[in-house]
Amino acid sequence: MNSLDKDSQKAAARVGLVSDTIVIHGGKPLHGRIEVRGAKNLVTKAMVAALLADTPSVLKGVPEISDVHVVSGLLRAHGVEITELEPGVLRLDPSNVKGAHFAEIDAHAGSSRIPILFCGPLLHQLGEAFIPDLGGCRIGDRPIDFHLDALRAFGATVEKKHEGIHLTAPQKLRGALIELPFPSVGATEQVLLTAVRAEGTTELKNAAIEPEIMDLIAILQKMGAIISVEPNRVIVIEGVEKLDGYLHTAIVDRNEAASWAAAALATKGDITVGGARQQELMTFLNVYRKVGGAFDVLEDGIRFWHPGTPLKPVTVETDVHPGFMTDWQQPLIVALTQAEGVSIVHETVYENRFGFTEALNEMGANIVVHKDGIASITRRVPRRKLEQAAVITGPTPLHGAAVRVPDLRGGFSHLIAGLAATGTSTISNVGIISRGYELFIDKMRALGADFELV
Ligand code: UD1
Repeated sequence: MNSLDKDSQKAAARVGLVSDTIVIHGGKPLHGRIEVRGAKNLVTKAMVAALLADTPSVLKGVPEISDVHVVSGLLRAHGVEITELEPGVLRLDPSNVKGAHFAEIDAHAGSSRIPILFCGPLLHQLGEAFIPDLGGCRIGDRPIDFHLDALRAFGATVEKKHEGIHLTAPQKLRGALIELPFPSVGATEQVLLTAVRAEGTTELKNAAIEPEIMDLIAILQKMGAIISVEPNRVIVIEGVEKLDGYLHTAIVDRNEAASWAAAALATKGDITVGGARQQELMTFLNVYRKVGGAFDVLEDGIRFWHPGTPLKPVTVETDVHPGFMTDWQQPLIVALTQAEGVSIVHETVYENRFGFTEALNEMGANIVVHKDGIASITRRVPRRKLEQAAVITGPTPLHGAAVRVPDLRGGFSHLIAGLAATGTSTISNVGIISRGYELFIDKMRALGADFELV
């Protein structure tokens, strides 16, 4: 069994998913309503923020996903008491924060990258932190150099050891002037979680401004932090000595919402995503409309459907917010295989996020990945060295196949492809999908999908 299989089985077990393989009898439109709750990309960070306080925090809207269990395990290993007050509501009490060993952190983290964000809070609380070997989805090298450079700028000492990285704060961490080479989401969160309790002022340039980051800033402000978001990706944080716990309802998962929207389009269905909000999905909605998908913004969600007219090809480039998010391209590409003509998706955020297209080609799609991008095409953002492009020629009928989930979003795309394809598809390693998609099996059932877990 390789490490991906192991990760998948562990993730499945964490959320009580009985099987890691699903057999889908596709070709039937998905119809109905499902609900989305708190965003994976906020909830996990909000849980870490609770470590910074002296008093307990309460987080609402927490989804039942495997990554939440990973963070809970890590927080408990560090002495945080976590109680589920009711489904989706966590109380996090940091009164007895303590250090944990490399092995323990490693065992809880698995391949998750979340331990890197524990560094700032632990350096404030304990004066030291450990990080094991970091993984996350296999969508590129995913280095942590921005994180470590930022922590060094605050005055932390970073020592690479055989088991991982050991950080210490010989003196109290001090505010710093930091400019990120790229508006990284994780590194921006690292700076926020560290700067709020550092001595003095921190100015962060070229910060990411994703909605989940704004929600994290809202949480930190509730805790007593002083953070101002200025024009041109500048964030200024005035450090404070202590922070209190927060009470907060997490922002809804826009990536999950976009994924189900793509499922409605690819299966010629009609899905209402309860909880989805227009504000965080505007860029996605524009592209959805250009492709020929229909949507209606409701009081309490968004209805997405295939209007029955042919889908149109598009050219999109993934980008940092407010651009088209990289997590949206994989589910959308499944729908683009059914558009009449040539679509191009430029991936500018990660260097390896088209691996999932191989499986789509096995299912009948015509997708060519250009590993060095397509240089001749005029682009809205400057090219990055790592850029790739996928050229999707449609429409191509999809047929069932046996495929393996490579990563979180790619895995959900395989599900959509299996649901849209005629015949039977066997999709293994679906545990990976439970890292970020709450109750996806139940939701598929509620939408009328025909499948069994084996
Ligand atoms: C987060 C999201 C993920 C999303 C991504 C971009 C979570 C849990 N995950 O991931 O869903 O796709 O933002 O919106 O919130 N980089 C470096 N050095 C670093 C850090 C990043 O070179 O130290 C590079 C990465 O390799 C990548 C780019 O910066 O090419 C963006 O990464 P980043 O924004 O940090 O993504 P994550 O925070 O890991």
